[in-house]
Amino acid sequence: MQKQNPVTILAIESSCDDTSAAVIQDGVVLSNHIANQDVHKEYGGVVPELASRLHDKNIVPVVDKALKEARVNKDDLDGIAFTKGPGLLGSLLVGVNFSKSMALGLDIPLIEVNHMEAHVMAHFAEAPYPQFPFLCLTVSGGHTQLVLVTNYNEMEVLGETIDDAAGEAFDKTGKIIGLPYPAGPVIDQYAKKGRPIHTFTKPSVGEYEFSFSGLKTSILYFLQDQVKKDPNWVENNIYDICASVQQTIVSILIEKLAYTVTKHNIKRVAIAGGVSANSQLRSSLQEIADQNGWEAYIPQFNYCTDNAAMIGISGYYRYLKGEFGSQSASPSPRLSI
Ligand code: KG4
Ligand code: ZN
Repeated sequence: MQKQNPVTILAIESSCDDTSAAVIQDGVVLSNHIANQDVHKEYGGVVPELASRLHDKNIVPVVDKALKEARVNKDDLDGIAFTKGPGLLGSLLVGVNFSKSMALGLDIPLIEVNHMEAHVMAHFAEAPYPQFPFLCLTVSGGHTQLVLVTNYNEMEVLGETIDDAAGEAFDKTGKIIGLPYPAGPVIDQYAKKGRPIHTFTKPSVGEYEFSFSGLKTSILYFLQDQVKKDPNWVENNIYDICASVQQTIVSILIEKLAYTVTKHNIKRVAIAGGVSANSQLRSSLQEIADQNGWEAYIPQFNYCTDNAAMIGISGYYRYLKGEFGSQSASPSPRLSI
């Protein structure tokens, strides 16, 4: 029998502050290159204007590296998958326009990918692959969603945050206590050296909803009270503060996840997005899954934060279904699942 040609896709991600390109062949990740933008650290958050300028500077070398690492020639590509949204307009525009130009030049199809769907689809980058249906808690810098996944790229948001995202809660708290952006990974490290001895009020919201803005305020007031008594209190207690903040955020996430699992009678549970790199969230999910007989899917670290491999995996399954975009494709900063 004659072997069919493989399907080779170049994927582009530029929704926020990481410029990434990946090559996916028959659903297997051949390369996944990321250029981070450290410039935002000094501003305590992503500066959109700087982000788009750096995407513009990085995109060609990043794509070049991804193709070389995968040992794939651009003429062998079958399609280009790109992040359509959600994200920052100026950042998305760079990836969208680059993808459209390259697809036009090579005369190959474009595949539009939803960034939040792609975070979930990152679970199909490496085995063990989840079976359908499964419930995914997607936790990133801009989103916190409970998603019921019924097939490749087929999913329904059961509920989400009504204000800040979980990643934002880490980052904004980090800013209050003087940590660099993004503070999530730093809080994770510091928490390992501290004790979760401080308690903060948990929000009261609808059944599948989250809220983190009140938590940020309650942490701020608590710290202001302590600093009034001792100006060096934050520096002297930084590890315990981090352990307490992390414990609160993770327990809010796990409690709501457990509630949703019970309500939907689903035994397969996944986490995705930047905050799924958090060590306590990962171990807490595994623990509660073991206790309850659930199957837990925890992504590899390189597929948690923003990357183009997840865009390519989502794009590959769209390609198989013939779901192509057109040259009039435009970025959608507020695209929802
Ligand atoms: O998914 P992502 O890379 O970008 C968005 O789509 O937003 O997520 C970035 C978020 C940031 O808020 C960052 O602080 C958080 O993920 N993050 C973490 C950890 N690693 C990244 N939060 C807690 N613990 C971590 N280890
Ligand atoms: Zn993301």
